[in-house]
Amino acid sequence: MTLLVTAASGHLGRLVVDALLERGVPASDIVAGARTPAKADDLAARGVRVVELDYARPETFGPALEGVTRVLLISGTEPDRVAQHRSVVDAARAAGVERLVYTSAPRVDEVDYALGADHEATERAIAESGVSATILRHNWYTENYLDAVARAADTGEIVAATGDARVASASRRDYAEAAAVALTTDDLAGRTVEVGGDVAWTYDELAEAAAEVLGQPVTYTRLSIEQLTEGLKAAGLDAGTAAFVAGIDDAIARGALGETDGSLSRIIGRPTTPLVQGLREGLAAR
Ligand SMILES: NC(=O)c1ccc[n+]([C@@H]2O[C@H](COP(=O)([O-])OP(=O)(O)OC[C@H]3O[C@@H](n4cnc5c(N)ncnc54)[C@H](OP(=O)(O)O)[C@@H]3O)[C@@H](O)[C@H]2O)c1
Repeated sequence: MTLLVTAASGHLGRLVVDALLERGVPASDIVAGARTPAKADDLAARGVRVVELDYARPETFGPALEGVTRVLLISGTEPDRVAQHRSVVDAARAAGVERLVYTSAPRVDEVDYALGADHEATERAIAESGVSATILRHNWYTENYLDAVARAADTGEIVAATGDARVASASRRDYAEAAAVALTTDDLAGRTVEVGGDVAWTYDELAEAAAEVLGQPVTYTRLSIEQLTEGLKAAGLDAGTAAFVAGIDDAIARGALGETDGSLSRIIGRPTTPLVQGLREGLAAR
């Protein structure tokens, strides 16, 4: 069985390759797709076949998919990523790939938010392809909060417009292990799973965690969405980007990330990484 991990030069992709190797998958059965293969030289040095795979360049798909049985499609970062994902999915189907695993976002069919809409459209494209799929709806990475915690070392506050909402974050490594399970077993075939941390924390609890990690007081300062949007514009963001970024806090405030049912820890066979530990390890790795 040959497993292709796309976006393997990114943080998550690398951890998935690590997790596959740790599960005993021979390096020769792993293909690492990278937009810029040189960024994955370290993976090649471990015996993994590195191929060029740029979602925006369909001419890279055929060679990358040659002999591949299962594909982990890691969501891209560019504005036209839905079209990019769709073309990768179509190519995977045409190449006879037997299973797709996709990294989606939480509750995209229940909560209306801009980031979620991209993922919902990709989920639809995958369903339409007819290829057997596993959709892993990733809650937030704990690593998303490293900048906020680092800033809090100077300001003593974490500033957000998320109200009393909760976030069930987990560390990237936790999500990577789940992707490795989805690629190497049949346990998750045909399923869509909301995956997140075991604990859905509030921003007051995030501030407490930051205080513990930094060894100094940190409080959560609540902004309205309007205050956040104006603050982002004052910091130099154009109006559209400011609205998009503030829209993420708005989605969190409306509960997009607040639910957890322990699926992730059940899939990976251990508790997810606790918030304080995830922040501490993330800051130490910088
Ligand atoms: N759930 C969350 O909290 C959360 C947070 C952040 C991101 N995400 C999503 O999860 C994905 C993985 O996260 P990450 O931490 O690994 O992000 P990351 O470190 O920024 O890596 C993003 C990866 O996407 C690749 N990529 C972007 N556009 C591409 C294209 N056109 N063709 C091929 N590869 C392309 C990048 O390639 P290069 O190395 O060539 O740039 C890189 O390998 C992100 O791309 C994003 O969609 C989720």
